[in-house]
Amino acid sequence: MSVHAADQHGAASPARPVSIHDLRASKERGERFAMLTAYDASSAALLDELGVPVLLVGDSLGMVALGYDSTVPVTLEEMLHHTAAVSRGAPNSLVVGDLPFGTYQDGPSQAFASAVRMLKEGGANAVKLEGGGPMVEVTAHLVRAGIPVMGHLGLTPQSVNQFGGFKVQGRDDAAADALVADAIALADAGAFAIVLECIPEELARRVTDAIAVPTIGIGAGLHCDAQVLVWHDLLGLTTGRLPRFVKQYVDLRSEMAGAIKAYVSEVADGEYPGPEHTYR
Ligand code: KIV
Repeated sequence: MSVHAADQHGAASPARPVSIHDLRASKERGERFAMLTAYDASSAALLDELGVPVLLVGDSLGMVALGYDSTVPVTLEEMLHHTAAVSRGAPNSLVVGDLPFGTYQDGPSQAFASAVRMLKEGGANAVKLEGGGPMVEVTAHLVRAGIPVMGHLGLTPQSVNQFGGFKVQGRDDAAADALVADAIALADAGAFAIVLECIPEELARRVTDAIAVPTIGIGAGLHCDAQVLVWHDLLGLTTGRLPRFVKQYVDLRSEMAGAIKAYVSEVADGEYPGPEHTYR
């Protein structure tokens, strides 16, 4: 799905902002779409200009940009700060703000207060929250209040301490059946899309067939309606061991290292700034 019509010069130009209904229509037409994470205004502006329909200000922010070793420490204030930047940079894409750990699990009224801030102060169009079970009632409450909710099942990183690590979920029959039931319940509660993280591809296919709203996979195989990747992973900015599902489309870290080394050495050698960079 592209949200931007090509103008007469062939350049992408905004048609109208993407809505949650466009995503469902995409699924109905059998058209896959891509979501990407974004954490700042300039990268969001690039994604918006390129017609990426959905930008997720994920709480992965904590790990890729804030130096935490899980998403658990991320605060609502940190999420609001970055979501507002992304919303300013991306007027056309649908901006989804992650509700961080501890800001919605206490129940519908806590979730409502956090989600309202995400929409009012963060400028997000929707929120994402992790989990099934009690989160079904939370989702229904937010949706009734007019707040679009994206669900998230499978490996839900905020529960890393419960899982005992970042592991593939839904491998046995009971866990798989429970996940399908959660997905159906979230969709019935009004979730407009559901992220499926780190589950076997056959299970992702079952969920995708079982619900009318789009599934968005990350480590969930090809049979989802959409895919999501983290900005740093896709661009080769992540260090350390990468999960199997990540495809690095470019090694931007090496490119950046080359540029930085050249700058540092030109400064040391007195080559930069040259006459063309100098006011007379
Ligand atoms: O926080 C995040 O970036 C996410 C995606 C990986 C789905 O939740």
